[in-house]
Amino acid sequence: MRIGVTYDILRWEERDILEKGRRMGMEVIPIHLDEVIFSMDGNGVKSQTLGEMDSIIQRSISHTRAYLTSALMESAGYMVFNGSSTIERAGNKAIASSLLSSRGVPTPKTVVGLQREVALKAAHTLGFPVVIKPVEGSWGRMTAKAEDEDSLWSFMEYQEGTSLKYRNVFYLQQFIRKPGRDIRVFVIGDEVPVGIYRINDSNWRTNTALGAKAEPVDINSELRDLALKAREVFGGIFLGIDVFEDPKEGYLVNEVNTVPEYKNTARVTGYDITGTLLTKLREASRK
Ligand SMILES: Nc1ncnc2c1ncn2[C@@H]1O[C@H](COP(=O)(O)OP(=O)(O)O)[C@@H](O)[C@H]1O
Ligand SMILES: [Mg+2]
Repeated sequence: MRIGVTYDILRWEERDILEKGRRMGMEVIPIHLDEVIFSMDGNGVKSQTLGEMDSIIQRSISHTRAYLTSALMESAGYMVFNGSSTIERAGNKAIASSLLSSRGVPTPKTVVGLQREVALKAAHTLGFPVVIKPVEGSWGRMTAKAEDEDSLWSFMEYQEGTSLKYRNVFYLQQFIRKPGRDIRVFVIGDEVPVGIYRINDSNWRTNTALGAKAEPVDINSELRDLALKAREVFGGIFLGIDVFEDPKEGYLVNEVNTVPEYKNTARVTGYDITGTLLTKLREASRK
């Protein structure tokens, strides 16, 4: 079995995939995306730089590069995990929230508006504080909490002044009073084998990139069902799902990460995420 691993930089996760894959008897080919060329001429898409491969794991750090290259590799006939449609829908927070809502998956109340005054008015239906996030983003970057109308206005102004693709789209969300932590669960294939609490007492943003501490979480049946429901919405073979504990509403799915980092989860739980991922990939490639 020959599998490819696309990457921009080799993080712990990609190195673990290369190492464990080889130990499991697979031929694992690192694919630096800077070096890949796709040729198209009306007779199909080809990539000489990629060669023969049973399947490919998408590990680009950049949402844009991950989406684009998954799509092109699919056109070239490769089986890619996660696929472009999963990455596209989950990676756009406005689309993702709308899909979760329309499929009845509990998620924080959110409004999306395309104009500042209109969005500000809509924010009142959520009540302050309001969380504003860039439609595409990660690691908590530019996610801000506005305590009142004044500060929300400023955040929207700042967002408009950026060069973000969606700088004029305002994604506003009710602030969830979660208990100094949130939950990250991993879906691998059709299983939800592992997860962590991400604990931060000094920052309401619980990204581990912002210093949150990881601790193992017990995956109860409610969490498992919720994660699998989210998977039904987006598809994919490997998802990192952010779940909030709302004091009144219970579990809420915040977002679904389609190229999730998992170094800290593997470290604190001792669970072999890479091994399970490769096993699921082998099963999927045989189908
Ligand atoms: N509505 C919210 N209420 C409370 N905390 C939030 C809310 N939205 C996001 N956060 C916090 O901010 C972090 C980053 O937001 P998130 O939506 O996960 O974007 P990112 O893609 O940057 O991780 C979350 O992990 C969570 O701790
Ligand atoms: Mg997140």
